[in-house]
Amino acid sequence: MFTARSAFSAIGRRAFSVSAQQNSKVTVLGAAGGIGQPLSLLLKLNPRVSELALYDIRGGPGVAADISHVNTKSKVTGYDAVPEQLKAALEGADIVLIPAGVPRKPGMTRDDLFKTNASIVRDLAKAAANHAPNAKLLIISNPVNSTVPITAEVFKSKGVYNPKRLFGVTTLDVVRASKFISEIQGTDPANEEVTVIGGHSGVTIVPLLSQSNHPSIDGETREALVKRIQFGGDEVVEAKGGAGSATLSMAFAGSRMADSLLRASYGETGIFEPAFVQSPLYKDDGCEFFSSRIELGPEGVKEIHPVGKVSKYEEGLIATALKDLATNIKKAWHLVPHSF
Ligand code: NAI
Repeated sequence: MFTARSAFSAIGRRAFSVSAQQNSKVTVLGAAGGIGQPLSLLLKLNPRVSELALYDIRGGPGVAADISHVNTKSKVTGYDAVPEQLKAALEGADIVLIPAGVPRKPGMTRDDLFKTNASIVRDLAKAAANHAPNAKLLIISNPVNSTVPITAEVFKSKGVYNPKRLFGVTTLDVVRASKFISEIQGTDPANEEVTVIGGHSGVTIVPLLSQSNHPSIDGETREALVKRIQFGGDEVVEAKGGAGSATLSMAFAGSRMADSLLRASYGETGIFEPAFVQSPLYKDDGCEFFSSRIELGPEGVKEIHPVGKVSKYEEGLIATALKDLATNIKKAWHLVPHSF
C-alpha cells in the first residue's frame, strides 16, 4: 500500500525514521510558490515536525488546507500577508525556511534577482528576528550569496544574530553533484558524496571531485562535470522555458537540509551538510560567508571543517569563486546601511 509514510521513507538514502518523541515547529515563508508547495508537502511527511506553519503573500491558507489532509500527525496552519499573521506563523518556530521571492527566467543569473529578492528577504528576516530570534534560518531565496549576508545584518541590527543558526541552502548543489557523478560512473547516487564548497551561483560553486569516490576523473570529463554542477540550475531554467527554475529538486534538497538540522537538534551526531554560513575559512579574501563541510549539532553549526587537501585544478576553481563571492557579499553589505 502506498502511504504517506512509505513515500516518505522512500525519499533517498537518508531515509527518515524516528524513535523518540520529537516535536518541532517548522515555518515556511513563501509556502505557496513553486518550491514552497512541494517543500511543505515533504515537511508534512517528516515525523519530527509537529507543527507546520505556511505563510505566503498569496495563497498560504489554501496550500495549508490542502496539505493538512495528508494523514500524518503534524498540525498545519496557513497564514496570509497580514503582519499579525506573519507573527503567528513565526512565533515558536524551531526552523524557518525562506523560499519567498522571484525565480530566474532563461538568460538570467541569480544575481539578476538581487533587486527584487534582497528586499523581500530583508523584510522577512526582520520579522523572523522579531518573532523567532532563536529559530534556525534556512535561506533558499536567491541570490543566496547575498541574501544570507543581508539576513545576518538584519539580525545584528536587532541584536539577535547567532551565526550558528543562519544557513544559506546549498544542498541542491550537493544533490546534483552526486547525481551527475553517478551518471558518468554508472553508480548508485546514494553511494556518491561530493563536497561542494564556495557559494551558490555559477563559478562560486566548487565541487571537490578530488575528495569524492572518483578522484581520478580528469581532462574533458572533469571539465564538463564541474561545469554541469556549477550551471545545473540553468538546465532546469531553460527546460522550463520561462516558467521558473528548479522547484521539485530544490524542495527535496531543502527538506533534506531541514531534516538534517532536526536530527542534529535531537542529539544525533555525525551529521554533515555543506551550507553557506559565516565562516573563518576565507574571511581574509573578503568572504565572510562560505560554504564548506559543516557538522551540525543541537545549536545549528557545530563545526566548520577546513576545506582539506585539494588538487591544483581545484585551487584555481576556488580562486575564481572567491572573487565573485566577495563581490556578491559586498553588494549585500552595500544595501544594508540604506535599509534601516
Ligand atoms: P515562485 O515564484 O514559484 O514562488 C515564490 C513564492 O514567494 C510565491 O508564492 C510568492 O507569492 C511568495 N512571496 C513573494 N514575496 C513574498 C513575501 N514578501 N512574503 C512571503 N511570500 C512571498 O518561486 P520559486 O520557484 O519557488 O523560487 C523561490 C526562490 O528560490 C527564488 O528566489 C529562486 O531563485 C530560489 N531558488 C533557490 C535555490 C537554491 O538552491 N537555494 C534553487 C532554486 C530556486
